Amino acid sequence: MKPVILLFTSSIGRKFLMAATGLVMVGFVAGHLAGNLQVFAHPDHLNGYAHFLQSLGPLLWVARSVLIVSVGVHIWAATVLTLENQAARGGTPYGVKHTIQATLASRMMRWTGCIVLAFLLYHLAHFTFGVAQPSTFKEAPPLNHYTMTEDYRVAGFVVVKAGAVVPDVHSMVILGFQNAVVALFYIVAVGLLSVHLLHGMDSLCQTLGLRNAKWSGGLRRIALVFCLLYFLGNLAIPGAVLTGLLQPHAPAATAPAAAAR
Ligand code: HEM
Repeated sequence: MKPVILLFTSSIGRKFLMAATGLVMVGFVAGHLAGNLQVFAHPDHLNGYAHFLQSLGPLLWVARSVLIVSVGVHIWAATVLTLENQAARGGTPYGVKHTIQATLASRMMRWTGCIVLAFLLYHLAHFTFGVAQPSTFKEAPPLNHYTMTEDYRVAGFVVVKAGAVVPDVHSMVILGFQNAVVALFYIVAVGLLSVHLLHGMDSLCQTLGLRNAKWSGGLRRIALVFCLLYFLGNLAIPGAVLTGLLQPHAPAATAPAAAAR
């Protein structure tokens, strides 16, 4: 029990909690991006995938709970560590360059973290709760629902059958990003999230004692490539919609297929 208490009551424990919850969130955002990139395939893919996730019921709520707890603990530990650092500095002027750099980096982490959190709340309202969905989507019932033209499989198992009527997440995403302001907000937010991830991975290595000659070389390059790919992958979706490369599927094209079944 004592080690668990120490995790919450000591500075190093809180740093560890930040690192562990950060890793959970990195896993989520990477998986989420991989799922979202199916928007470039036939609508069956993204729609089948989204419906499959929704159909997981209690399992989905277990995953959501882990994510919500991770976000909460991450923000709590960051706030406590920041307050502790400020109290420890006690207004002493910065004497050396690396202290200024460290302070700039942590200030940047706070700002990027707050903006990403604001983005997340908007994003949930946009796509999960549908409060901020585009009127083009809400007012177009044929686009609200999609009839699967083929089975959707996970690990070879059919999880959504052809002919099933599922929410049309594919059209929702594309119509959502046809609003340039919304698309640009997403691009800026994922850009800041990528910067946050890069600095976070740096801090993670410091917490785990990996910030040595090796980290400054190989591990940092891996983190850089990961964050760059993560940014480009996320940029690709609103970018392709804004440039007209991604268009919503024609509702009429799926209707006859559904009727034929
Ligand atoms: C281009 C970028 C993104 C796209 C296209 C996208 C798309 C979506 C869609 C369509 C949903 C709703 C799925 C459904 O209800 O069926 C969703 C949910 C969600 N997204 Fe994103 N997303 C993007 C970026 C992000 C980022 C950067 C984050 C994290 C900071 C994020 C976090 C979430 C969360 C937490 C949910 C709720 C998942 C749940 O239902 O439990 N998304 N996203």
